[in-house]
Amino acid sequence: MNHKRQFNHDSLYSRLFARIYNPVMRSTELAHLLKKRKALLSEVRGKVLEIGVGTGANLPLYPAEAELLAIEPSSSMLKYARKLLESGSVRAKVQLMQAGIEDAQVAEATPDGGYDFIVSTLVLCTVPNQEAAIRQIRAWLKPEGRLLVLEHIQDGRQPHRWIQRAITPVWKHLGEGCHLDRPTDKLLKENGFRAVQEQYFTQWLPFYWAILEPVRR
Ligand SMILES: C[S@@+](CC[C@H](N)C(=O)[O-])C[C@H]1O[C@@H](n2cnc3c(N)ncnc32)[C@H](O)[C@@H]1O
Repeated sequence: MNHKRQFNHDSLYSRLFARIYNPVMRSTELAHLLKKRKALLSEVRGKVLEIGVGTGANLPLYPAEAELLAIEPSSSMLKYARKLLESGSVRAKVQLMQAGIEDAQVAEATPDGGYDFIVSTLVLCTVPNQEAAIRQIRAWLKPEGRLLVLEHIQDGRQPHRWIQRAITPVWKHLGEGCHLDRPTDKLLKENGFRAVQEQYFTQWLPFYWAILEPVRR
């Protein structure tokens, strides 16, 4: 899997995006997302891959029993994740790698069937080729492994869905590749996953929270 990057993750705008990311997200995180993240990550053990770790919002929530490879293409976002690791507030064993899910270096470090858990929070809205990423995640999971997701998704209601589609071309540029209108929940199920637990909730945007297992072929 090798897709051309849509964004220069080291541009001036990317550095600004990384700098404002935590302050902009803070109130939504404290009011809503943090408890969803905790519910997703509290039982994680063993070999874990987190895609698009960003500034590291999940890192302090992993138990000490997790051994984590955390990948992130933006050096600007990684800088904040690295600072968090250095602050001593992370219990898990973490290796950070500057890479996107489609990059060869991730595949080289990641044998098929190698992970107990793969984590994606607010990332499948952004990866360049979502279906290819989901298929790759499935290949990297152990047969009994779990995919943990917290993602905003396409709105089922009208005119919300129409508005999402209309503003996504501009939003994508402001949000470093983020699409408002991806039906991530449906695509996960069409590409080899079944929900073990799932929740839908709306917090300005509609969100999908789920623990998913790979469907046996
Ligand atoms: C909205 S941020 C979410 C960060 C973090 N996961 C969180 O929950 O706060 C989306 C992240 O996905 C990363 N990303 C973009 N393209 C990616 C790719 N191809 N593979 C992995 N991560 C990617 C971005 O650089 C960014 O840090």
